[in-house]
Amino acid sequence: MPALVLLGAQWGDEGKGKATDLLGGSVDYVVRYQGGNNAGHTVVVGDQKYALHLLPSGILSPSCTPVIGNGVVVDPSVLLSELSGLNERGVDTSKLLISGNAHIITPYHVSMDKVAERFLGKRKIGTTGRGIGPTYADKINRVGIRVQDLYDESILTQKVEAALDVKNQMLTKLYNRRAIAADQVVEELLGYAEQLKPYVADTVLVLNQALEDDKVVLFEGGQGTLLDIDHGTYPFVTSSNPTAGGACTGAGVGPTKISRVIGILKAYTTRVGAGPFPTELFDEDGEALRRIGGERGVTTGRDRRCGWFDAVIARYATRVNGLTDFFLTKLDVLTGWEQIPVCVAYEIDGKRVEELPYSQSDFHHAKPIYETLPGWSEDITKAKSFSDLPKNAQNYVKALEEMSGAPISAIGVGPGRDETIEINSFL
Ligand code: IMP
Repeated sequence: MPALVLLGAQWGDEGKGKATDLLGGSVDYVVRYQGGNNAGHTVVVGDQKYALHLLPSGILSPSCTPVIGNGVVVDPSVLLSELSGLNERGVDTSKLLISGNAHIITPYHVSMDKVAERFLGKRKIGTTGRGIGPTYADKINRVGIRVQDLYDESILTQKVEAALDVKNQMLTKLYNRRAIAADQVVEELLGYAEQLKPYVADTVLVLNQALEDDKVVLFEGGQGTLLDIDHGTYPFVTSSNPTAGGACTGAGVGPTKISRVIGILKAYTTRVGAGPFPTELFDEDGEALRRIGGERGVTTGRDRRCGWFDAVIARYATRVNGLTDFFLTKLDVLTGWEQIPVCVAYEIDGKRVEELPYSQSDFHHAKPIYETLPGWSEDITKAKSFSDLPKNAQNYVKALEEMSGAPISAIGVGPGRDETIEINSFL
């Protein structure tokens, strides 16, 4: 019954694709349990680079069944174009399973996302503009459209009309936009139905049976812990639960089934979009991290904000996710710094604070308290074991592990598939 959850321990973009790579052929099912095409990870297979937004990374492995769980929001046009892009490159996508209970991102959700952001002005969240928040809002408001609705035209029409009733009032009267015609939306959605049909399944049943049969199931979180709607830096968060509990609700698997929770942790910190970020750098070090680390969003092409490692956040991620392991990524990006500052606590209103404050205002005022660790200049990309790393790199990893509260079981030392040091096996 090996069910593993793999999730971002910071603000997303920690390099989850690399961890999935390491597990490679041993995984039978890879499941996305929340988010939508706001995510983005790059997976390198041989000399081929794939940027995935909605599909689980398991789509690239012939032995694996990729699953889009009920907790995901699906933009059918994006999904179909992602699938056809892969098919054109010779990737077989026929094993994909999509939950009939997953909610659909419609064109009106995308419009609402964009106008709402514009309306917020200076207070905007910096969303990806993909309709994620409005689709989850409709789900919670019980006016959402689910994948299964595509197969009952009359229900679909009623639901789209009901959803647009209020939205068109908002679009025309509040946002000064044109109303959206329900029949056009219905027609567009029905146009996707046949193409999606072969993939639609009772994924909850499939996954629970797979676990009964001792298959290896990997739950892949999008975004990261600090972007979680409940546990992140609200309101500067996404509208779902990337944290470990989200895997249970977003895939229909009970918590007793989860055997391992792996947090992906970058050796420094990045964030896209607005919101507090205590260790953010505005100097040449930040610029160098961005340049060397290639810190530009896979989904939006936006530059990522960069800063030093924050152990307070890592400890918080250990706590809210019950992490059993960390996968430390991009250690090679730090090669060349003589000294590397690491945030060990915050100063808030003159007081030293060791743990993430629950109060949003306190977090906004948090100033990082740094400890400085000696850096290394040797190339580490060829390191195959922990002992191959220069002493200072070893000490940096050990210090992070001690501060973060869970063992670092793997280390990424370069972008390539095999540029990973495995310390403890995940399976
Ligand atoms: P939304 O998910 O598009 O609603 O955006 C909400 C916030 O989450 C914004 O700050 C986005 O930049 C951020 N966000 C969403 N998806 C990702 C991701 O995959 N990586 C990093 N940040 C993300």
